[in-house]
Amino acid sequence: MGSSLFVLAIFFLSCSLVSCITSTEFLYPNFTASNLQFVDNFGNFLISRNGTFKASLFNPNGQQTNFYLCVIHMASNAITWSANRNASISNSGKMSLTFNGISITDQDGAFKWSTPPLKASVSALQLTEMGNLVLLDQFNVTLWESFRYPTDTIVIGQNLPVGLLLSSAVSSGDLSTGNYRLAVSASDALLQWQNLTYWKLSMDAKAYTNSNYAVEYMAINQTGLYLFGHNGSVVVIQVNLSPSEFRIAKLDYSGQFNVFSGSSLSREFVGPDDKCQIPFICGRLGLCSDDAASNPTCSCPPNFHAISNSADCVPSDGSYSLSVSCSSTDNNSGSNASLVSYSRLGYGIDYFANDFTMPVKSGVNLSVCEDLCSGDCSCLGVFFENSSGLCFVLQNELGSVMSTTGRNADRLGFIKTLVGSSPTNGNNNFNGQALRFPIVGLVLLPFTGFFLLVALGFFWWRRSRISETEKVKLSYPTSPSSGDLDSFSIPGLPVRFDHSIDDDTSGGGYSSSSSGPPQLVYFPLFALEMHEQGKYLEVADLRLEGRVTSEEVEKLVRVALCCVHEEPALRPNMVSVVGMLECETPVGQPRLESLNFLRFYGRRFTEASTIEENDGQDDFMLYPRANASVSSKMSGSPTSFSYISSQQVSGPR
Ligand SMILES: *[C@@H]1O[C@H](CO)[C@@H](O)[C@H](O)[C@H]1NC(C)=O
Ligand SMILES: *[C@@H]1O[C@H](CO)[C@@H](O)[C@H](O)[C@H]1NC(C)=O
Ligand SMILES: *[C@@H]1O[C@H](CO)[C@@H](O)[C@H](O)[C@H]1NC(C)=O
Ligand SMILES: *[C@@H]1O[C@H](CO)[C@@H](O)[C@H](O)[C@H]1NC(C)=O
Ligand SMILES: *[C@@H]1O[C@H](CO)[C@@H](O)[C@H](O)[C@H]1NC(C)=O
Ligand SMILES: *[C@@H]1O[C@H](CO)[C@@H](O)[C@H](O)[C@H]1NC(C)=O
Ligand SMILES: *[C@@H]1O[C@H](CO)[C@@H](O)[C@H](O)[C@H]1NC(C)=O
Ligand SMILES: *[C@@H]1O[C@H](CO)[C@@H](O)[C@H](O)[C@H]1NC(C)=O
Ligand SMILES: *[C@@H]1O[C@H](CO)[C@@H](O)[C@H](O)[C@H]1NC(C)=O
Ligand SMILES: *[C@@H]1O[C@H](CO)[C@@H](O)[C@H](O)[C@H]1NC(C)=O
Ligand SMILES: *[C@@H]1O[C@H](CO)[C@@H](O)[C@H](O)[C@H]1NC(C)=O
Repeated sequence: MGSSLFVLAIFFLSCSLVSCITSTEFLYPNFTASNLQFVDNFGNFLISRNGTFKASLFNPNGQQTNFYLCVIHMASNAITWSANRNASISNSGKMSLTFNGISITDQDGAFKWSTPPLKASVSALQLTEMGNLVLLDQFNVTLWESFRYPTDTIVIGQNLPVGLLLSSAVSSGDLSTGNYRLAVSASDALLQWQNLTYWKLSMDAKAYTNSNYAVEYMAINQTGLYLFGHNGSVVVIQVNLSPSEFRIAKLDYSGQFNVFSGSSLSREFVGPDDKCQIPFICGRLGLCSDDAASNPTCSCPPNFHAISNSADCVPSDGSYSLSVSCSSTDNNSGSNASLVSYSRLGYGIDYFANDFTMPVKSGVNLSVCEDLCSGDCSCLGVFFENSSGLCFVLQNELGSVMSTTGRNADRLGFIKTLVGSSPTNGNNNFNGQALRFPIVGLVLLPFTGFFLLVALGFFWWRRSRISETEKVKLSYPTSPSSGDLDSFSIPGLPVRFDHSIDDDTSGGGYSSSSSGPPQLVYFPLFALEMHEQGKYLEVADLRLEGRVTSEEVEKLVRVALCCVHEEPALRPNMVSVVGMLECETPVGQPRLESLNFLRFYGRRFTEASTIEENDGQDDFMLYPRANASVSSKMSGSPTSFSYISSQQVSGPR
C-alpha cells in the first residue's frame, strides 16, 4: 500500500513536470457514478480545468453511512456544495447524468434527489474553476447551476441574493439541513435560529456600513466580504480581509458564520465571536458561561436541573414542566391559564433574542408581563426589566440562556411552567453542573497534500489510460480491475513517460513480467538510497535514458522524499510542492533523519514479500544495502509491516 501511494505521488509529480493537467471538467450523458465505482479515486469523478475543485461521491468525516454528491475544494478538502444533503446514499448509491439532468438514487434504485425540470435537454455537465457545477444545453447555455442552490457555503464568484439562505449542516458527518441559517435582508446579513435573529453582520466591529442602499446580495472576493446593492455597483456593508486567492464563507454546523482562507482554511472572520450567543449551544435552557479562556461551559440555571442523556435543563421541582408552544407540532394542550406558573431564572442571566427583538410592552409591571404570556399559548416565558418596565416574550422554541456580567443586570427571566410533571422531567437528580455539553470546534484536517497528490495522480492516470483506448467518453469502467494497482507498484517513473514519450509502447505501462526493477523492491526506500548516492537516473525508467536529465529526476525525487517525511510538520504543503515543481521556490533538501523509517519499513516490506512470494531467494533484490540485515526472514508475516500507520507514510501535509 505504502509503495503504491508513493508511486502514485511520484506519478503526479512527474506529470506536473511535463504539464499534463488535462481537463476532465466536462461529463456527457449518459454517465453514472457511485462511490464504490470510483473508490480507487476516493469517489472523485470530475475535476475542474485547473484542478481547483472536484466533484465526488463523498462521505464526510470518514463515516461510512452517508454519501453525498459534493463539490470539494481540492487543496483544502472543504466541501463547498452538496446535492442530496437531506437524502444521503450508501457507497453504492448512484448519481446519473442524463438528458434530463442529474438524479441520485440509492443502491435499491430509490429516488433521492434530482435537479428540477429543465427547459432544454442537457448536453454536458461542467465543473468550473470557481466550483460551480453547471448543466449546459447544446449551445452551452446554462440550464442549471449549483451556485443558485447554495447549501452552507459560498465561494468567490458566487452571490447569495436576498431570499436565498445558507443553512447549517447537522454535523460534520451529516450534511442534512440543521437549525441555523444565514439570511440576507434588505439592510444586513442575519444569523437565525427558529426564525429568531442571534447575530447581525452590521454589529460586528470589523464590518463597515458604507451606504444605505437596499442590499441585493452577499459575496466574497479576494479582499473581503461584502453586501452589495444597486445591481452590484454599491457596497452597503464591507468587511476587509487580507488578500487571498481562495476563500469561503460558511455557516458552520455549530451555528457560527465563518470566513476561511487559504488551503489550510485559516479562520479570518467569525460571527458571533462569543459562542454563548449561539442559541442552542447548551441545549434547551442550558446556561452558557464563558470561562477565562472564553470557552463556553454549560450548566443549568438555579432552580433547574439537567435531564439525563441530554443537554437540556428542566425545573428542579418535578411537579412543574416546561410549556410547549402551541405553534409547535408537539401538542400538550397546556394553555390552561390556571395551571401556569413561572420559574425565575435569577439575575445575570439573559437570552440571545432579547437584543434582537422589540419588547412587547414597556412601562408595565411584572404581573402584567406574565399575564400577557399566560394568555398566549405561543409564549414560553418572559424577560422583564424592572427599572424600565420592559417586557420581552420568548417564542417559537426555548434555546440556551447565557450568563451576563453587568450588562442588563436589571433584566430577569421567568420561564413558563405547567403544573404537573411531564415524562421528560423524570426522577433523576442529575447535577446540572456536571453536564458539559461538548462544544466541538471546527476540525480542520491539516493534510490536503497527500490526498491531492494521490487523487490527482490517480485521476490523471485513469484518464490517460482511458483516453488512449477509447476517445474520452468519460464512461468509466464499472469495476476497476485490481491489476491497475498492481502495475503501480513497479518502481521507476515509468507509466507517465510511457504514455507521453513512448506513445508507441502498448498498453498501460509495465506488467509484472516486463523489464525494469523487480516489483518487490520497496520503491520509496530505493528512491531514498539513490538520492543518498546521487544516482538519480537509476530511479527513472531505463527506456527514458537520454530523454530526462538527472536534474529533472533529482527534483522529483527530492520533492517526493520531502513529502513522505515521517514528521508531518516537515512535509511541505501543496503550495510549496507546486512552487518547487514550477521552479519558483528552491527544492527542499530531504531530511534523512525523518526518512529513516523508510529503511525500517522497506526492509520489513521486502522481507515479507520474500517470505510470501520468493521462498527465500535473496537474489531478487536489485540494490541490497551493504549492511542490510535481510537475513532475519522469519520475523515477519506478510501483514506485519502494517504497524507503521498510514499517517506516518501519508505524504505531504
Ligand atoms: C441515455 O439513457 C436514456 C434512458 O435513460 C436512453 O433513452 C438514451 O438512448 C441513452 N442515450 C445514450 C446516448 O446512450
Ligand atoms: C488555469 O491556469 C492557467 C495557467 O495557470 C490560467 O492561465 C487560466 O486562466 C486558468 N484557467 C481558469 C479557468 O482559471
Ligand atoms: C432539507 O430539509 C429541510 C427541512 O428539514 C428543508 O427546509 C430544506 O429545504 C431541505 N433542503 C434541501 C436542499 O432539500
Ligand atoms: C461549448 O463549449 C465547449 C467547451 O468549451 C466547446 O468545445 C464547444 O465548441 C462549445 N459549443 C458551442 C455550441 O459553443
Ligand atoms: C419562520 O417564518 C416563516 C415565514 O415567516 C414561517 O413560514 C415558518 O413557519 C417560521 N418557522 C418557524 C420555526 O417559526
Ligand atoms: C472585491 O470587491 C470590492 C467591492 O466591489 C472591490 O472594491 C475590490 O476591488 C474587489 N477585490 C478584488 C481583488 O477584486
Ligand atoms: C445589472 O447589471 C448587469 C450587468 O452587470 C446588467 O446586465 C443589468 O441590466 C443590470 N440591471 C439593472 C436593473 O440595472
Ligand atoms: C393542538 O391543540 C389544539 C387545541 O388544543 C388543536 O386544535 C390542534 O389540533 C392540536 N394540534 C395537534 C398537532 O395535535
Ligand atoms: C383549566 O384547569 C381548571 C382547573 O384544573 C379546569 O377547571 C378547567 O376546566 C381547565 N380549562 C381548560 C380549558 O382545560
Ligand atoms: C401592575 O399593574 C396593573 C395595571 O397597571 C395593576 O392593576 C396591578 O395592581 C399592578 N400589580 C402590581 C403587583 O403592582
Ligand atoms: C422594581 O421596581 C420597583 C419600583 O420601580 C421597586 O419598588 C421594586 O423593589 C423593584 N423590584 C425589584 C425586584 O427590583
